[in-house]
Amino acid sequence: MTTTKLKIRLEGDPCLRKKSSLVDDVGPGERILIQLMIDMMYQAEGVGLAAPQVGVNKRIFVIDIGEGPLIIINPKLLSKKGSQCLDEGCLSVPGVTINIKRPEKVFTQFLDQNNKQVKRWLEGLMARAFLHELDHLDGKLIIDYGTAEELTKFKEQLDKIHKKSKA
Ligand code: NI
Repeated sequence: MTTTKLKIRLEGDPCLRKKSSLVDDVGPGERILIQLMIDMMYQAEGVGLAAPQVGVNKRIFVIDIGEGPLIIINPKLLSKKGSQCLDEGCLSVPGVTINIKRPEKVFTQFLDQNNKQVKRWLEGLMARAFLHELDHLDGKLIIDYGTAEELTKFKEQLDKIHKKSKA
């Protein structure tokens, strides 16, 4: 796998709509992929990036909300509390923001890059980022939450992205 082959996929790319597979074991290949994803996330100035966004349908994502990178493999949502609404963007749907209601706190389980199982409460922006990236692993995008009004507002931009994804 080389960096030149990896690029951020745009809405319209079938990779973004597939359900990603569980990772059996985090090996050297996964670690290389994770490092590339972290680099790409920083380069694109995003707060998270999921493997399907770079064309790899594995249940892996990375998040950095300004506290350093968090690597998440085979995530599970164990419980949730509260709710919060916020405008959300996505590197695969650039220039589009959708107001999404999500839980305020989530109790999560996942593997880290050393195959160690972690259980952790995440809250606020971290919880939001986790849920956004988890959606990516199940083929879901922010536009799926959009109201008819929002989708009309961004129609031109969405058409542009869609066209570009096929290029
Ligand atoms: Ni996204």
